Amino acid sequence: MNKRDVIIACDFSSAADTLNFLDKFSTAGVPEKPFVKIGMELFYSEGPEIVRQIKRRGHPIFLDLKLHDIPNTVKKAMRALSRLDIDMTNVHAAGTVEMMKAALEGLTRPDGSRPLLIAVTQLTSTSEERMQKELLIGAGINETIVKYAQNAREAGLDGVVCSPLEAAMVKEACGREFLTVTPGIRFADAAADDQVRITTPARAREIGTDYIVVGRPITAAADPVEAYRHCVREFIGE
Ligand code: C5P
Repeated sequence: MNKRDVIIACDFSSAADTLNFLDKFSTAGVPEKPFVKIGMELFYSEGPEIVRQIKRRGHPIFLDLKLHDIPNTVKKAMRALSRLDIDMTNVHAAGTVEMMKAALEGLTRPDGSRPLLIAVTQLTSTSEERMQKELLIGAGINETIVKYAQNAREAGLDGVVCSPLEAAMVKEACGREFLTVTPGIRFADAAADDQVRITTPARAREIGTDYIVVGRPITAAADPVEAYRHCVREFIGE
C-alpha cells in the first residue's frame, strides 16, 4: 500500500515568509515535519539555499519545477537537482518518454538512490477546448491524461500530478502502485478560490489518491496548524 501524505504548497515569495510559516508548526509542537512543496516562485527568488534550509529543519520536500526541455538538458538539470536532498520532483509528460527517461537517469544518484519523479499530464488550467483548438491535440482531455500517465509509467516514473477527479482513471490505467499527487483540495465549507475541479480531503481519501497538495486552505487559514491537522485527520485518518 502506498503511503498517504498531505503536502503543504508553500507558495510564498520569500524565504523569510516561508520560514516564519513553518515556525508555527514547531512552535505549536506538531511532532511530525509536514511535507512541503516548493514551487517556481520561491525557488527562482531564493535559489537552492531555500531547499537546504527547509531540509535542515527536517521537512520532506517536493520541488515542483515542472521541467520540460530536450532530453539532454533535462538530464543535466536533474543531475544538479539530485544533489539537493529533495524527496520528490517533476517534469512535463509532454516532453516525451525519451525526455522522461533522461530525467530519471539524471536524477539517479551515484549510489542508486533518487527522489520520486512524477509527471504533469495536462495542467488543470488547460481546458479541453484550448487543448484542441490551440494545441491541435485532437483527442479528449481525459484520453490525453491517461495516455500521458501511461507514457510516464513506461518511462519508469513513479506517478503523475492530476486533479483528484482524474486519480481513479489514472489508477485504473496504470495500476494502484502508480502514484497520484493531487492539488485542488478544499474543505467542505470553504471557497474554491481559482480552483475549478476540487474535492475535500475526505473524498480524496475515498478516491484513493496518494498525496494531496494543499495550499491556501492551510497557508491562508487563521490557524494554519489546526487547518493542517484537520487535513491530516480527514485524509490519513489520524
Ligand atoms: O492554494 P491551493 O490549494 O489552490 O494550491 C494548490 C497548489 O498546487 C499550488 O501550488 C498550485 O500551483 C499547484 N497546482 C495546482 N494544479 C495543478 C498543478 C499544481 O493547483 N494542476
